[in-house]
Amino acid sequence: MYSFLQLSDTHIQEPDRTLKTGVVGADAFLCAIEKAKRVQPSFDAILISGDLVDSGGEAQYQELLALLEHLPSGVPVFLCLGNHDARTPFRKVFTGRLQSTGLSDLHSHFLQYTAPLFQSDGRTVRMVVMDTLEPRRDEGHLCADRIDWLCEVIKRYPHDRLLLVMHHLPFLTGSALFDAMVLQERDALLDCLRGHSNIERVLCGHFHRACVADLLGIPVIVCPSSAHAYPLQYQGGAKEPLVIDEPAGFAIHRFIHEAGSAGGWTSHFVFQAAA
Ligand SMILES: [Fe+2]
Repeated sequence: MYSFLQLSDTHIQEPDRTLKTGVVGADAFLCAIEKAKRVQPSFDAILISGDLVDSGGEAQYQELLALLEHLPSGVPVFLCLGNHDARTPFRKVFTGRLQSTGLSDLHSHFLQYTAPLFQSDGRTVRMVVMDTLEPRRDEGHLCADRIDWLCEVIKRYPHDRLLLVMHHLPFLTGSALFDAMVLQERDALLDCLRGHSNIERVLCGHFHRACVADLLGIPVIVCPSSAHAYPLQYQGGAKEPLVIDEPAGFAIHRFIHEAGSAGGWTSHFVFQAAA
């Protein structure tokens, strides 16, 4: 069995800073790692699907880098940017360390890359990480450059089994707050994916809740935040109280291979009390 841990919306800040929910992102990160180890002793990889840090500051990425030292050594870590991230400080801290954190095949300005995970029945299972960040915007974007890259990657690996990772949701949830921050170029994404049967999962974050949907029949799995949940009815109004009575969490994705079958993914959600 191959499996990887997905953390999302870690919202790491400078040391001694606290999120508006009262949570310290770094503490919650470490709690999630400890919980994950209790649920499953080891993982083949770790994915953090955006909002790596809370406001894109270089010191926050330095703090994230220090936290990654707490992860088991030798396990590749795949990073994806969210709307709270910023490319320049991210690159400043992680350039030169990108290879050691599992990033390869980087695409120009955007943090888009593919990474082969393992082989199954002679086919490569490959992660394809997209960059839906648009600076100073909360909604997600995939401009023509990014969409073209994805279309080219899908054509480049026609026999691989693909896992597509993006921070923003490519579908509506019914949450007014998050539907206002959904991926904008959903039609272009659908056009790119349509007709390709080798995309087996889309993995997202952003929503701070566990959620499942589908896109052209492809399961879309949304990982909760390791820091804090958002109430489903919360609209983000200035005078609206933010009352969180649901746990933070993470996801574990397992590729189960049964003799005589092609094998496939099972995704588990694990919840934990706020840090
Ligand atoms: Fe977030």
